[in-house]
Amino acid sequence: MKEQKENDAEAEKIKSQIGDLTRKYFEITNKPGLTPVRYGGSLHDEKELVEMINAVLDGWWVNGRRTKEFENIMEKFFNAKHSIFCNSGSSALILAFESLGLEKGSEIITPALTFPTTINPAIRQGMDIVLADSDIGTYNVNVEQMENAVTKKTKAIIIPHLLGNMSDMDRIMDLVEEHDLIFLEDCCEALGSFYGNRMLGTFGDTAAFSFFPSHHISAAGGGMFITNSEELYVRALSLKNWGRQYSSVDYIPNQGLIRSDYIQQYTYEAIGYNFNASEIEAAKGIVQMGKLGEFNKIRQENFGLLLRFFKKYEDYFILPRTVNNRAKPSWFAFPLTMTEKAKKLFTREQLMDFLFKKKIEARYILAGNIMRHSAYSKIKFRTSGSLANSDKVFTDSFFIGVYPGINEEKMKYVRESFDEFISNPKANL
Ligand SMILES: Cc1ncc(COP(=O)(O)O)c(C=O)c1O
Repeated sequence: MKEQKENDAEAEKIKSQIGDLTRKYFEITNKPGLTPVRYGGSLHDEKELVEMINAVLDGWWVNGRRTKEFENIMEKFFNAKHSIFCNSGSSALILAFESLGLEKGSEIITPALTFPTTINPAIRQGMDIVLADSDIGTYNVNVEQMENAVTKKTKAIIIPHLLGNMSDMDRIMDLVEEHDLIFLEDCCEALGSFYGNRMLGTFGDTAAFSFFPSHHISAAGGGMFITNSEELYVRALSLKNWGRQYSSVDYIPNQGLIRSDYIQQYTYEAIGYNFNASEIEAAKGIVQMGKLGEFNKIRQENFGLLLRFFKKYEDYFILPRTVNNRAKPSWFAFPLTMTEKAKKLFTREQLMDFLFKKKIEARYILAGNIMRHSAYSKIKFRTSGSLANSDKVFTDSFFIGVYPGINEEKMKYVRESFDEFISNPKANL
């Protein structure tokens, strides 16, 4: 008994030491000017570390109780029937496309301003790609162009809710219903964004999320596929787990003779993958989901601070906006597009280089017009109008961070650095 107590006390002491050291570490790695103002990154403390260590000590690596718990949390959060924790947002998108069985030669409409793995599965499945432009300021798809793009061959749309922002979801849902389209949501940058009182990720047939370190929460990587369809869920589960059979055990041979779960594990009904994420990642994801509300509140505050600050520079930058007042984004970052006036004084790269020297991270807005990249040079696509805005984003836009790792002191440093540059761009080139 005494030995038990001493042992527990020692374990608690070690946990608390891990906590103290982690806090100290974060203090000295958070000094503006000396350490980078990241645009995003995993923000965790001793709680995540202890849970991850516990997962290691338990020694059960994949598809264990932590994965199930993380999935349960997500299902409750989205009021969704099914979810699958997998090894990335990109994998969740593959699960979505392949479980839907979208056919070769059928059309999918999507914005040209996107992330590669949003549309790669459609290309791999031999779908015909139809691209719509996006709007500067919202950086999300222009719905009118999508409406004009629909033909008899159109089967599906996939929308990445870029930067946590969104297009007019009422119009998108009208389009989906009118033409009986399959709707895939890429919510990899939009965990916790709302349209009206509905969360993004609850509109489509499927939704994909990413827990890559720079995203709204980080599970040290990993992704989530969610759906309300039992059929899609069972197919996606099989695809994630090597192609194992989950649909029915009825026709598995010799079922009565040896353990059915054993036979099922080695009976395959899909040309599958191994997209498992680890229990260590699930452990981190569980703690991070508990912090999402607080994280997103800080994202909002940081976004608001920057929006108020940049008002005085509206001559130089097009500021971010929402499509209407029903859109309530949980912003992934703070996007800016150079105006013609700014471009006469400095280039985007000169400004980004200045920020880089100041240790302030800035990034391009994903791929810009994806078709400008060499990987896509041979991909045939159709449009229903000009992709001028996607091209403009490719050359003139960038974003800086709003994530909760940017505290007040760092926010002030970012604002002062922009003031310094813009007050005399030439001196800083
Ligand atoms: C819009 C979008 N879709 C998909 C992904 C892919 O997610 P992951 O990096 O987890 O594979 C990302 C990742 O950055 C993204 O931003």
